[in-house]
Amino acid sequence: MNVDVILGLQWGDEGKGKIVDVFTPEYDVIARFQGGPNAGHTIEFENKKFILHTIPSGIFHRNTMNVIGNGVIIDPFILLKEIQKLRESGLAPEENLLISKRAHLILPSHRLLDAAYESAKGKSKIGSTLKGIGPTYTDKAGRNGLRIGNLLQHDFRIKYNQLKESHLSLLSALQFDTSGCLLDGLTFNAYENSWFDSIDLLKGFTIIDSENYLNKSLDEGKSILAEGAQGAMLDVDFGSYPFVTSSNTISAGVCAGLGISPHRIGKIFGVFKAYCTRVGSGPFPTELTDGVGDNLRNMGHEFGSTTGRPRRCGWLDLPALKYSIMLNGVDSLIMMKADVLSSFEKVSICCHYQENGKNLENYPFDLSNESTVPVYDELEGWDDPLRNITSVDMIPGELKTYIDYIENALKLPVEIISVGPDRTHTLLRNRL
Ligand code: GDP
Ligand code: IMO
Ligand code: MG
Repeated sequence: MNVDVILGLQWGDEGKGKIVDVFTPEYDVIARFQGGPNAGHTIEFENKKFILHTIPSGIFHRNTMNVIGNGVIIDPFILLKEIQKLRESGLAPEENLLISKRAHLILPSHRLLDAAYESAKGKSKIGSTLKGIGPTYTDKAGRNGLRIGNLLQHDFRIKYNQLKESHLSLLSALQFDTSGCLLDGLTFNAYENSWFDSIDLLKGFTIIDSENYLNKSLDEGKSILAEGAQGAMLDVDFGSYPFVTSSNTISAGVCAGLGISPHRIGKIFGVFKAYCTRVGSGPFPTELTDGVGDNLRNMGHEFGSTTGRPRRCGWLDLPALKYSIMLNGVDSLIMMKADVLSSFEKVSICCHYQENGKNLENYPFDLSNESTVPVYDELEGWDDPLRNITSVDMIPGELKTYIDYIENALKLPVEIISVGPDRTHTLLRNRL
């Protein structure tokens, strides 16, 4: 068997969580391969709504195993909160959740460093979720990090203190006032105490060599779906650097983040919204800073799942999608939130970028270059809320034209159309 992959093609929040949940009954294992609690994946069913940050989105299906892979970084405090919420809803996540020994730990002091680096950047800040992502991946690459497996060793506390002290020296060099910095509403000391309490509880979970488990599962003929976090345009190598996250969000990240050979990658599903959003700073060529953008935000409830920040909104950006598709090797497309465009009389699509009146062949190195301008085609909108549509045959003609336009431009089928946040608001089309 192979590992299929679901990932975001834009700047995150495309609706990956919903689609992973919809696909889960078809898989034995769901595995997250990168990112950390900067992610917020929303799943809605039976009038319930869950937002997952670290736990894979297959957790609601008891017969499917969920793996937090080695490429993920974990804040025990946040993970435990997620687990408690699931338990309050009658779920028993310890029964179908496995955690990689090699996943790195986000220490409370990583979060302080994140805040300090952002504050030092002033106006050019990244707009980080402040979950400690950058500093934790920095320590991983710098070979200073601590991993879940270290929790099981007798000298964990010594190693923790060493790393924390090195962070405190850095913070002091940055002249960052840690006393005024709250972590999820808690002082550093209170957060650190809860963090250690969470660790004690986490030790009761199944902590494994996930690379062995996953490869063995494949050998036994089990099916695996890898769940991406963030989106290709936030990839540390290919996103709008430096306004990116600190991991490889693209399909190549699956191999390193799970310990899977490239030979074993199967079908790659690319998830995109019918328009674009971005939360945090950085270039966004099709951003609408006018009332149209406000309408998109209001109609789409575009507020961050992790931080609650308003998301910046704009029209669909085909050059960015083409670039993402190339980087990921996408086999088929999944279009989300078509219903949000329902009330628009006209909808625009950016078909290419121009510089000095010439169409750009390739995606530009520096998107903030002001001479790079998006060029749009305008299409008719569809005046149908779509929520009662249960099959693709019922799709209004204008939406069909919109999808045909996208398929022609991207040369890939749109296999699924999502028309609402619930599991059931999902239309299957051109199933390959
Ligand atoms: P993720 O990070 O990619 O999993 O996406 P988020 O959960 O951060 O953001 C997607 C948001 O859109 C969530 O609030 C979902 O409940 C919601 N959503 C997903 N699909 C649809 C859809 O087709 N229509 C509408 N209106 N909302 C959707
Ligand atoms: P999901 O998985 C949207 C953005 C942040 C910021 C930049 C760097 O829900 O799609 P970081 O905290 O990683 O240092 O932030 O990346 N960002 C996301 N935007 N969805 C996400 O995850 C994101 N994770 C990080 O807003 O601009
Ligand atoms: Mg999200």
